[in-house]
Amino acid sequence: MKVLIVGSNGQLGCELQRTCPSGIKISAKDYPDIDITKDKSLKLVIDKEAPDWIINSAAYTNVDDAEEEPEKAHAVNCEGAKNLACEALRINARLVHISTDFVFNGNNCRPYKPLDPPDPQSVYGKTKLDGESAVLNILKEDALIIRTAWLYSSHGNNFVYTMLRLMKEKKELTIIDDQIGSPTWANGLAKTIWAAMEKGIKGIFHWTDAGVASWYDFAVAIQDEAIDAGILSKRISILPIPTEQYLTQAKRPSFSVLDKRNLLDAAGLSSVHWRIQLRHMIREITH
Ligand SMILES: NC(=O)c1ccc[n+]([C@@H]2O[C@H](COP(=O)([O-])OP(=O)(O)OC[C@H]3O[C@@H](n4cnc5c(N)ncnc54)[C@H](OP(=O)(O)O)[C@@H]3O)[C@@H](O)[C@H]2O)c1
Repeated sequence: MKVLIVGSNGQLGCELQRTCPSGIKISAKDYPDIDITKDKSLKLVIDKEAPDWIINSAAYTNVDDAEEEPEKAHAVNCEGAKNLACEALRINARLVHISTDFVFNGNNCRPYKPLDPPDPQSVYGKTKLDGESAVLNILKEDALIIRTAWLYSSHGNNFVYTMLRLMKEKKELTIIDDQIGSPTWANGLAKTIWAAMEKGIKGIFHWTDAGVASWYDFAVAIQDEAIDAGILSKRISILPIPTEQYLTQAKRPSFSVLDKRNLLDAAGLSSVHWRIQLRHMIREITH
């Protein structure tokens, strides 16, 4: 089986390569070797690679910048997803498309199920939802869409690395405690994607690590794990603050816990608590 990973230099793209099961031949491509917004050049790459599966882990992921440049975000997150779905249909390949908790408004008091009504509150969320719709319109019941949230890994920019840097530089940090989600190690998501492909499942699914946290809880855990692992030598004070004291360009969902039961059942998987996954990631970057 041949799999084309698009967005291969990103957090998830790197983990997909590291976790690829034996017997699968992967081709890993990222911008500028592949540009999913350019349908003609994309077609040339797809013809050359002739994959059985395409995994779309490419995206415009800068949530705040997207508010300033919606066309760019739309081009990658919607047009790019649509182009890949058209290519998958043309060559009779399967597509795994990755999406986000930002398609929901965050007003729920229970975990979001895959078929709950979306209501994105940001340009990024809207463009990702438009990408999902394009994939579903083209591939219909053959589409496989996996939404995830609060992703981090040892590659790329993410909350864990930002915290580790700030904890070295500052004596005190203030972190939002009224946005709730599930921190998710990209490594676990990558393994889940391979398992879902192996089962050949179709539809819309959710995946995050188990458990929930606020950004404040996550920051406190990062400091604890980093001190245990010897990455940080001294503890600083971390203070909880409400969202209105840390304003950002884009609105974030205040509750973005995803119900992943249908993927756990369909792929026969179990999820690992986010705190244990965080420990794995921190241990990984100490070696
Ligand atoms: N990060 C999160 O917290 C989070 C949360 C929920 C869902 N997700 C979703 O999970 C997926 C993976 O996210 P991630 O964090 O791994 O993203 P990431 O680290 O930002 O990686 C995305 C990759 O896509 C590439 N890319 C951008 N435009 C492209 C184009 N036109 N053609 C080809 N490649 C292009 C980027 O290249 P450049 O760096 O050169 O732009 C980058 O290497 C995305 O669908 C994202 O929406 C992420």
